[in-house]
Amino acid sequence: MKILGTGSALPKKVVKNDDLAAFLDTNDEWISTRTGIRERRVLSDETLQSLAERAGKAALENAGVAPEEIDYVLVTTVQAETMSPALACDIQNAIGLKCMGMDINGGCTGFIAALAVAEGLIASGRAKKILIVSAEALSRFADWTDRSTCVLFGDAAGAAVVGEGEGIKDIRFASEPRRDVLCASTPPGNSPFAVDPAPAQYLKMQGQEVYKFAVSHSFRDIREMLAYHDLQPEDIDFYVLHQANMRILEAVRTRLKVDEGCFPHNIERTGNTSSATIPVLLDELNRAGKLKPGCRVILNAFGAGLCTGTAYLEL
Ligand code: UT7
Repeated sequence: MKILGTGSALPKKVVKNDDLAAFLDTNDEWISTRTGIRERRVLSDETLQSLAERAGKAALENAGVAPEEIDYVLVTTVQAETMSPALACDIQNAIGLKCMGMDINGGCTGFIAALAVAEGLIASGRAKKILIVSAEALSRFADWTDRSTCVLFGDAAGAAVVGEGEGIKDIRFASEPRRDVLCASTPPGNSPFAVDPAPAQYLKMQGQEVYKFAVSHSFRDIREMLAYHDLQPEDIDFYVLHQANMRILEAVRTRLKVDEGCFPHNIERTGNTSSATIPVLLDELNRAGKLKPGCRVILNAFGAGLCTGTAYLEL
């Protein structure tokens, strides 16, 4: 399998750190030095569906693939606007797709999970071309009274068209169940038979625990991927990591001992957009002409679960 094209879409509303200080006990200095984030985009009068549609269309155009050539659409999201139908079904009309689709909730590793599902569908001969859209509205998930979490997140959609080829060399996952450090729950429903249903809970995170997991596991997984393929850290052109915290990116980069240019980032403009961070950043690199044939790229994501996903690509 290989990536044939990419796309992305961000909401129009820009929220700067100072905008948050207007209603939270926080400030630009704390947010930017602890996270690298200076602003993020959040949904206001747009829908997540519209972002997903824009990103999906852009990826098809970039790939030069017609909607009717797509055999399957995979959407990754932690929370779409409806639980049923899946967002993958809802975006089909606007994009002009006529194929089966489903949503995948892989948290921040969702895009890499979708690559693995797509690889299976293509390898089994069930699909030749697949559209992956990672669409996330973390602004609807966060508790906007909790300064320790809401300042971190943004909304975005990133997309990729994948098809038969030799580009994706390897995909691996790891998991360490830790519901205690990162958790959000859905509304309990109104079943008259439920006994003491737990109330809905916004996203709660023990930031330092997730930080330690992210740095140690990302470094471990990348090093294992490199060793398996007999590669040195400097053999990789770009490490496209989940954009959760600039300090996490820097910690992994310095452990790998590679140059700053190998670790592209956009967290300063987007914040953490869960599974959308990697495809949005890939699209930015692609449109800047940086993803040249032969480029070696490592993708790595970490988050809710706690889970990690790592992919090795040769373009
Ligand atoms: O995509 C999912 C994966 N998520 C992540 O990867 C997140 C990983 N974790 C992190 O990025 C960092 O742990 C955070 C950015 C979440 C927090 O940074 P930290 O350096 O670990 O700060 P902390 O939680 O230890 O908090 C330090 C202080 C606390 O005050 P005290 O107890 O020292 O007085 C917090 O109350 O900073 C305070 N604080 C804030 N102050 C101003 C927490 N949030 C804020 C804020 N503004 N927004």
